[in-house]
Amino acid sequence: MEKLLKVLIIGSGGREHAFARKVNESPLVDKIFLAPGNGGTETEFTNLPIEASHFEQLRDAILSLKIKLVIVGPEQPLVDGIIDYFQNQEDTWLKEVVFVGPDKACAALEGSKDFSKQIMKEAGIPTAKATVFDASDWEELQTYILNHALPVVIKADGLAAGKGVAVCSSHQEALDFSRSVLKDKVFGEANQSLLVEEFLDGIEVSMFTLSDGVHYQLLPEAKDYKRIFDQDMGPNTGGMGSVSPVWFVDEVFVEKVKSRIINPLFNTLNSKGLSYKGFLFIGIMKVGNDPFVVEFNVRMGDPETQTVLARIHGDLVPALMSISHQNLDQFPLTFDKEAATTIVLCAENYPDTPIKGDEIVLSEQVEGQIFHAGTKRNEEKIWSNGGRVISCTATGYNLKTASERAYRLVKNVKFRGMQYRTDIGLDLMAS
Ligand code: AMP
Ligand code: GLY
Repeated sequence: MEKLLKVLIIGSGGREHAFARKVNESPLVDKIFLAPGNGGTETEFTNLPIEASHFEQLRDAILSLKIKLVIVGPEQPLVDGIIDYFQNQEDTWLKEVVFVGPDKACAALEGSKDFSKQIMKEAGIPTAKATVFDASDWEELQTYILNHALPVVIKADGLAAGKGVAVCSSHQEALDFSRSVLKDKVFGEANQSLLVEEFLDGIEVSMFTLSDGVHYQLLPEAKDYKRIFDQDMGPNTGGMGSVSPVWFVDEVFVEKVKSRIINPLFNTLNSKGLSYKGFLFIGIMKVGNDPFVVEFNVRMGDPETQTVLARIHGDLVPALMSISHQNLDQFPLTFDKEAATTIVLCAENYPDTPIKGDEIVLSEQVEGQIFHAGTKRNEEKIWSNGGRVISCTATGYNLKTASERAYRLVKNVKFRGMQYRTDIGLDLMAS
């Protein structure tokens, strides 16, 4: 078969590196570009020195390189309307390009927690009860918090680089966090309001769909480990590791997620003239035996993507391309029965102010995959260049084997100050 397709992946993390490898397996794909990519994608694929926020430069690159498929990795450009920007272009080539990601109106599911709650309320989707406040409600907010049961969850309304949520075990902590959002504006002007939310006590799992606006397919579920230290201690991070499958996501649970969450969500969006295209990440809390939505993200997770893609069989590209003709139902994805584990290797002082510029030494790997994130190349060497530096993914016939292999891979990576969790997946193996 003739390889024709040129693909652009927007972003620079382990998620984007994993997408590039998966897409590269396709016999349809000729060349893969990343904007801006990282030190790993630079030698394996082709990096373009364009940031995800520079829509015009991306447009010029798509036209000059004759790109046909664009995968938008991170949320910020989606929330900022990258899809709408390209939809509004007159160019005939651009009209044929397939973009994987929702438009701005749908991306508000992640861009505004208030919007997301309103949609869930209208759709009857089970989620924690929440009340919205802005700075002008300060007195009322204080009283509300002081009378709220503990723990109480405070969520900045807009994007906050994964730091906008505080699960507070005291009223003082909740007041302090609220003040930092509304008065000190630590997450910027995009966060004019916050939600005070009921605490959901349960086990978390992330589920994912790919949708063409009419049909959707469920991808393998994953569990993400958000805290920096073992046993879920320390501050939240972007994600320190992930595993799939998660034992309690059986047929009955999946059916509940479809009938109580996914179907009502897409129906409600459709009733407003909104059609969701691309990946949707559903953060779920299992309370008792029932799924409750903690959050929607309008893209795949990092490091969940590394784990989830390792379990998807065959060619992802026809399913992605089907978004243009809305015939995703004709390209069913199949999953491996095998398990997968990803371990994230971070820089010293992550998640605060990670120390960059340490040389990374990679030795020959035997099995599994090493993905780059915060890395760059200089003088033939690789250097750390961000908080989450590398991720190691492996599969196995069960979680124990997959995790053992992933931890064996970790031994092939060395850099000063490297830190990682040693308990990824352990809680799920014990169950
Ligand atoms: P979010 O950014 O909304 O996913 O929140 C970050 C993390 O905070 C989640 O992954 C949960 O661990 C926790 N969280 C958020 N909302 C709640 C809630 N209502 N109850 C318990 N934990 C929550
Ligand atoms: N790992 C969590 C996220 O990608 O949002």
